This record gives sequence, structure tokens and C-alpha cells, in this order.
Amino acid sequence: MEISNFLKQKISSQNWKTPFYYYDFNIVEKNFRDLENSLSNRFKIFYSMKSNPHHGILTKLKSLGCLLDISSIGELDRALAAGFTGKEISFVGPGKSQEELIACVTNNIEYTVIESIQELESFAAIAKNYDKIKKVCLRINPATYYHPGGAARNMSPVHFGIDETEVLNAKVIFDKNKHIVLAGLHFYLQSQFLDAAVIVANFKSFISCAVKLEAGFNTKFEMINFGGGFGIPYFQGQNKLDLSLLKDEIQALLKSEESSSLKDTLFFVESGRFLSGPAGFFVTKVLYTKKSYGKNYAVCDGGITQHQAAVGIGQILRRNFPIRAVKMKEDSKTNEVVTIVGPSCYSIDILGSDVELPQLMPGDAVVIEQSGAYGPTFSPENFLSRPKANEYTNESE
Ligand SMILES: Cc1ncc(COP(=O)(O)O)c(C=O)c1O
Repeated sequence: MEISNFLKQKISSQNWKTPFYYYDFNIVEKNFRDLENSLSNRFKIFYSMKSNPHHGILTKLKSLGCLLDISSIGELDRALAAGFTGKEISFVGPGKSQEELIACVTNNIEYTVIESIQELESFAAIAKNYDKIKKVCLRINPATYYHPGGAARNMSPVHFGIDETEVLNAKVIFDKNKHIVLAGLHFYLQSQFLDAAVIVANFKSFISCAVKLEAGFNTKFEMINFGGGFGIPYFQGQNKLDLSLLKDEIQALLKSEESSSLKDTLFFVESGRFLSGPAGFFVTKVLYTKKSYGKNYAVCDGGITQHQAAVGIGQILRRNFPIRAVKMKEDSKTNEVVTIVGPSCYSIDILGSDVELPQLMPGDAVVIEQSGAYGPTFSPENFLSRPKANEYTNESE
């Protein structure tokens, strides 16, 4: 059934209460399979739980053989509850506490991604204390990278990872501490790359960096995590990532001379929004419609406290996510340009500016697409003590 009709049925049945997120696990599965297919069986995928930790999404991805990228003990608890084991997990983040580093050791997390020399020293001490030998991968800030526009840039200062130019300072720590083993490297430049050629150009330079660092550390890496930053189109003018181009570029990369010396190295990527984003829809009900000095407004029961990303926090220039109307009574013949706002007394609580939609009435619903990633996890749910959004799925009644 077409998504608007499906949601209309669920809202009218009064079983599903707005505002809510709706997640379709079939879309999660399709996205996973599409990405897997484009990357070839040389790469395994970590799902970045930060984008959406919903239990159903985790269990679906686990059933497909996906691994998990986590960043906190809370995420670890959710991972274990969904049936993942430490062997399937990579723990990333520039500020891991002692408690978190201990959790990496005691839960047998396969790859602890270390982001500073001091963190490496702490982790080595903890591993020694627990008398365990732990794999570490070092998060690297390469000296240059291809930014989403495609041009090569020098890396700007950043509080993540360790600079490529500094990372060999870690060698002495590995040499001194037998409880840590350098398993490999981790790269993550940024999110929202929509050009497959640029993604793979970066992968290629990570390979050159890895080859140099193997020589510098005098080791063979077991693995490289290439990150990814696989984007999804949110705004007008953005196109979907071209997966057939991604596939071709990856094939060329794997055949290249640079990668031949890494033929036994495990390759990984990590991805959040590409897998979960298109699978989620945020649905809010129109409470009132009104005009102010000639401009139409629809005031809804959901907004910034449930879906901050759609409000535009984090964007330099606010743009609208894809929005559609679900008319509850008649199909209006006339369209109107309307600004869709949330219920808070915060002037930036705007879900859609000047959107052309069939004329909205109280009781109609507004659906924000591409909302499966960074919805509840990126929203100030405590602001104004407003209700949290409900979460339903294609498996909910
Ligand atoms: C280290 C790291 N990995 C993975 C991700 C997931 O990004 P995305 O959801 O855009 O795939 C992020 C996002 O901030 C990140 O910082």
C-alpha cells in the first residue's frame, strides 16, 4: 500500500498516536543489501548505532550479518540486548571514559578504536590490569582528503583521531605493552558524501596511507576500517548515491596496484544514515492552521523536541527535508504554500518552510521523509518536557 494511505489508516484507527516515527525494516534490509552488493564481498559493514538504536533495526541488521559500530556503554547494552557479541562490535569515540575502556576489555570488543596517544596508554594499562591481550585500531586523520565537492584538501585540525603525521609516536607504546596489539587503522572523515567517486578516491588514499604506516610500524595490518560517510538525499537538488558507480569504483580500487599488498587485510566500512535514514518517516498531526500577515502556517503536535534534524540544527542554511501531507478527510483540490511548525515557543521550531502541499486542515498529518537516522537520537527530548515521539514499525499492530 502507498505509504500515505498506510499511515492514514494507522492514524485513523487511533492505534498510532502522533507525533511518531515509523520505521520500515524492509527498507533497512534493502539498503543493507544494496550497500553490501556495491562494496563486493571484500568489505564487511558496521552499522553506526548512533543513527538509530531501535531494537528492531538492530535485530534486522544482525540477521543480515551486519556488524555494529558503537560509541557508549548505553549503546553496548542495546547491542547485547539485540544479540550482538563483542566479536561483532567496534567501539569508536574520541573521549572514552575509563569505564568505557574497561567495558571494551571485559566485553571482548573486537576492535577498540583509539583516538589519542593518551587513550592508547590508558587502554594498555587496563588491558594489562585485566591480563587480556586486546586488539586496537588507530583512528587516523590523513594529511589530505577529498571533500564532498571533490577537490583534495589539507586536513583541518580536528579533535578526532590521531594525525597521520603524528601516529608513529604510538609505536613505542605498542613496543612496550604486550597487552595491546595493533590490528589496523580506522578512518572516518565526515558524513554525507553523495559522490561515489569521491568516496572511493578517499579509500584509495587511505590505502596508500596504510601501506606507508605498515612500513612505519613494521607490521602487517589485520584490518582497515574505511569509514564511509555514505550519504542520502535530504534536500532539493541532491541525488541518491550512485551505487553502480560505487561498485565500479570499488572494483577498480580492489584491482589496483596500491591494494594488492593488502590482499589479505580485512576491509570494513561503517554506515548509519544510509541504512536507517530512508527507512524512517516522522509523522505529526496538524493542530491548527492560521495566517500571519499573509503567510500560511500549520501548527503541529511534533517539532524540534522530537525531530531536531528536520528543524535544521546542524545545517548552515536551513532547508526542508522531503515533506508530504496525509489528508484525513477529503483530498483538497487546491495546493497552498504553508510553513509547518512545531508546538514549542521556540522561533526556530520549523519543520518545513514555505512548502507547497494540498491545503492542510486540523487533523491532517504531515510526514517528513528520510527521518530514520538522527531522529530521536539527535533531538532535545527534555526541552519543555514535551512528550517523546512514539515509535512504530512495519511489525507493529
Ligand atoms: C566515527 C563515525 N562513524 C560513523 C558515523 C555515522 O555516520 P553516518 O550516519 O553519516 O553514516 C559517524 C557520524 O557522525 C561517525 O562520527
